[in-house]
This record gives sequence, C-alpha cells and structure tokens, in this order.
Amino acid sequence: MVSTLGIALGVTLTLVVVALHFTKGTEYPIPDDISQEVLEQRASSVPETEFPEPMNRSIGGGGVAAGAVAEGDTEGELAEGEEAAGDDDPAAIPDDEAETFEVEYLKEGATIEVKENETLLEAGEDEGWDMPYACREGQCVSCGGHITDGGNSEQYVKHHTQSMLGEEELEEGYTLTCVAYPIDDLSLETRETP
Ligand code: FES
Repeated sequence: MVSTLGIALGVTLTLVVVALHFTKGTEYPIPDDISQEVLEQRASSVPETEFPEPMNRSIGGGGVAAGAVAEGDTEGELAEGEEAAGDDDPAAIPDDEAETFEVEYLKEGATIEVKENETLLEAGEDEGWDMPYACREGQCVSCGGHITDGGNSEQYVKHHTQSMLGEEELEEGYTLTCVAYPIDDLSLETRETP
C-alpha cells in the first residue's frame, strides 16, 4: 500500500517536472544592451541641452546629446577645441600662409628671413650654423638667446610651451630659440642666457 502510493507520487512529480521543462514560459525578450535602453528612456523624459555636460549623464541626457553630435553636427565641442589648440601652435601654420620676418643673427653676422612657423633655432640650423640646444621643448635654457631690440622678447617672438623664463627675464629680452617663432623683425644674440 505504502509503496504503491510512493510510486504514484514519484511518477506524478516526474511528469510535473517534465511538463515544466517543456513549457515556453513568458518569453520575456532580454535586450542586447539594457543600460542603453534605460538611458534612452530617461533621456526622452528630460529637455535636451546644448551640449553633453558630464552632470547630464546621470539622467541619460549626456548619452543622447553625444549621439546627436555624432549623427548630426560633426563639428562638436571637442573638434572646435582641437582646432583652437592647432591654431595656438605656430608650427601648424601652412608654409604658403606663413608670414616672413627679417631676423638678424648678430654673432653669426647675417640677416635671414624666418617664417612665422619656424623657430629661431631651426632657421639658424638651416643656415648651417652650430646652434646650441638640448631638449628642444622649452624645458631647459641651452638654446637661450637675447633679443636686443629692447623691451619684452614676446613683442618679437611667440614662445610655444616654454616654461623656463620668468616675466622679468622675458622683459629683459631673453628667449628660448627652440620654441621661439618670430612675430616681428628682430636682432638676436645667440648663446645668451639670463
Ligand atoms: S633646447 Fe631646451 S629650452 Fe631650448
């Protein structure tokens, strides 16, 4: 009697398990990217902003705004910033657009034309002169020179990335020739440091 009941229960449970195994269930579709869907839903519920501020990402607006830039306006914030950074580097000025200035190298005894996209060091080297230098990045004073026209050296050259000369030294006319691009005619004494 007991064994018959046990067998009946066992068979019933087995049938239930088999039936559940083959049941299809609700078939809830799992999205490929849940987080992106949530971001888009949230973004659709808030007003769109001009640009993707980092704060906006917490409610999903950043993601959508960034997408909008990618799809529509290819000249986004970053592209404009990059362009501005490029403008800041005189070396990026195309040769055919670069203005030319007269630079007198006093110790070398010659006046040459130097383009605004060329450093005073490079121009001297192009003449075959033995110009002093070390880092070529404005990080030492090996290439130091003195502009003798009077006043701040930055009236005559644009220093790109120099970090060694203080305001007083610039006022005295000192320059780092490896990062100095002419913006006016000038006279230069090479091998002169503060
Ligand atoms: S070579 Fe170092 S600052 Fe010019």
